[in-house]
Amino acid sequence: MNLTGIVNRVLRSELSNGNQRMGASLLRLFFHDCFPQGCDASVLLVDDSARGIDSEQNADPNKGSLRGFGVIDTIKKTIVSETNCSSVSCADILAVAAKESVVILGGPSWTVKLGRRDSLQAFKAKANSDLPKPSFSLQQLKDAFGNKNFTPSEMVALSGGHAIGSVACTFADDTVRQVRCTTSTVLDPNSTRVPLDKTPAIFDNQYYVDLVDGNGVLNSDRVLVGPGSDRAGQVQTYKTSRDSFFKDFAKAMAKMSEMGVLTGSQGQIRRVCSKLN
Ligand code: HEM
Repeated sequence: MNLTGIVNRVLRSELSNGNQRMGASLLRLFFHDCFPQGCDASVLLVDDSARGIDSEQNADPNKGSLRGFGVIDTIKKTIVSETNCSSVSCADILAVAAKESVVILGGPSWTVKLGRRDSLQAFKAKANSDLPKPSFSLQQLKDAFGNKNFTPSEMVALSGGHAIGSVACTFADDTVRQVRCTTSTVLDPNSTRVPLDKTPAIFDNQYYVDLVDGNGVLNSDRVLVGPGSDRAGQVQTYKTSRDSFFKDFAKAMAKMSEMGVLTGSQGQIRRVCSKLN
């Protein structure tokens, strides 16, 4: 079985074993890997002071909220045991896992170029400074994505990653928090979370429907259609055309998945994704 086949099988088993949110968590994990420095699996490295690793997992946007590390480890182990192949990088696994998560949940596919290598460093300061915050205004969002060479239009399409998954109530916009954070939610009955749209286990264009209806969950979602937004037309287009959103999202994800990849003799192929060899 090839990489995509193994990733698909592990993910399906994870999702059907009561861990329905994992697809969303892996998509977010990939975004948080790529955006600060590049899609180099740097986000998977844990603290290791002897080797100068100050883990990105402890950066503010990641601490206590990033998930999916165990699934990446399971995929890595499965590849080694079933194919005897030790030349698949953690960065390749992460990129394929994000894409397959979207596909399994009903979303579009895109081409993931393989052969990327894993970083020798973590970039905690960059994770803190470069990842967008839920409190951001539309201009701050445009700037954060613009700094990474994404257009405002690509930013709006990528925000559609919020078609799946949920957020901790602490992050939700004040109005949402007051109304929706008092009861338990579909995805995580035991914790105080709120789904990012009305269909959090399906990758569809409901996120944009909810935005237009004034039901965006994060401030950074709501400002896309808020007063004075010059992106409202694009949100409206995605609300009415799932195909249009899928096409733009897939294209932007393919672009994101090529940010700062390591190739050739750069980096290494980690044997264990959380540690340097
Ligand atoms: C536009 C700027 C963005 C901001 C400010 C933002 C912020 C956040 C925050 C605060 C959470 C909640 C984390 C938690 O409580 O567990 C979240 C969840 C999530 N984000 Fe974003 N995000 C942005 C863009 C993106 C992009 C570009 C993607 C992917 C393409 C993405 C995918 C996700 C997913 C799938 C979740 C749900 C994770 C889960 O359920 O475990 N986000 N985001």
